[in-house]
Amino acid sequence: MESSSSPAHRGCIFPQGLLLTASLLIFWSLPTTAQLTIESVPPNAAEGKDVLLRVHNLPGDVLVFFWYKGERVNSNLQIVSYIAHTQAINRGPASSNRETIYPNGSLLFQKVTLQDTGYYTLEAIDKNFQNKQVTGYLRVYQSVRKPALRASNATVTEHKDTVVLTCLTNGIGISIRWLFKNQILSHKDRMKLSQDNSVLTIDPVRREDAGGYQCEVFNPVSSIKSDPLELDVQYDPTLSSPGFSDGAIAGVVIGILAGIALIAALVCFLYIRKTRG
Ligand SMILES: *[C@@H]1O[C@H](CO)[C@@H](O)[C@H](O)[C@H]1NC(C)=O
Ligand SMILES: *[C@@H]1O[C@H](CO)[C@@H](O)[C@H](O)[C@H]1NC(C)=O
Repeated sequence: MESSSSPAHRGCIFPQGLLLTASLLIFWSLPTTAQLTIESVPPNAAEGKDVLLRVHNLPGDVLVFFWYKGERVNSNLQIVSYIAHTQAINRGPASSNRETIYPNGSLLFQKVTLQDTGYYTLEAIDKNFQNKQVTGYLRVYQSVRKPALRASNATVTEHKDTVVLTCLTNGIGISIRWLFKNQILSHKDRMKLSQDNSVLTIDPVRREDAGGYQCEVFNPVSSIKSDPLELDVQYDPTLSSPGFSDGAIAGVVIGILAGIALIAALVCFLYIRKTRG
C-alpha cells in the first residue's frame, strides 16, 4: 500500500516525468499488441517434412480469412478460405490438397516439396470489413547427397609433389568443409582452397599431411561426409629436407673427423713434451 501510493504522490510533483513514462510505455507496447505476423516452423524446412506457417495476433473478430500463394492478394492464387462462424473451408485454385487450415489462421503444409518455396499471404477480414494482410516466406531445402572425394594422386612424395583433392557434389546452395583425421582441417600456408571450397590444393606436400581426408557438404537442414581418402606421403632421401640434408650429414662427419685429428695432435704434442722432458 505504501509503495503504490508513493508513485502517485511523485506524479503530482513531477507530472511531466509521469507523462513521459506513460508515453514511453505506450510506444514500447504498441508493436506487441497489434502486429499480425507469420512465422515458419521450422524456419528452414527439409523436403518431405511438414511445415507450419504459424499466424500470430490474428484479430479476435475475424469474419473470414484467405491464404494466397505469392506476395499479394490474388484470387487466381488463392489456396484456401475459412469462414469463422460456420468453420467452412473452401479450397482455391492454388491448393495442392496438402494444406490444412486451422481456426487460429495457421496453415500446415504436409510433405513439402522444393516447389513450395516462396511467399504466402494471409488476408483477414473482420466484422467491420476491415482488411488486414501479412506475407511470410517458406523455404524448403533438399537433403544433401553424399559427396565423393578424389585425389590427383593418393601416393605422393614429400617436398616434390602437389596434391589436389576435389570434393565432387552436384548440390546447389550447399557449403563444404574439410576434415583431416576426423578433425576440422587446420589450414596451413601450403594449402589453398577454391572459391567454393570444393578443391583443396597442398603444395608442397609434407609427411605431416599423410592421413585420412574427408569433405563434408551441408545446408541448413542436413549434412553428410564423403568416405575417407587416405593420403600416403613418401620420403625420398635424395631430395633435400630441412634438418637432415646431405650437407648437414657431411658437416657432422667433417666435425667428428676434425675432433679426432685435434685430439690426436694433442696426444702427440704431450707425448713429445714428456719424452723430451
Ligand atoms: C494454431 O493451431 C495449430 C494447430 O492446433 C497450432 O499448431 C499452432 O501453434 C496454433 N498457432 C498459434 C499461434 O497458437
Ligand atoms: C603418383 O605419384 C607417385 C610419386 O610421385 C608416382 O610414382 C606415381 O606414378 C603417381 N601416380 C599417378 C597415377 O600419377
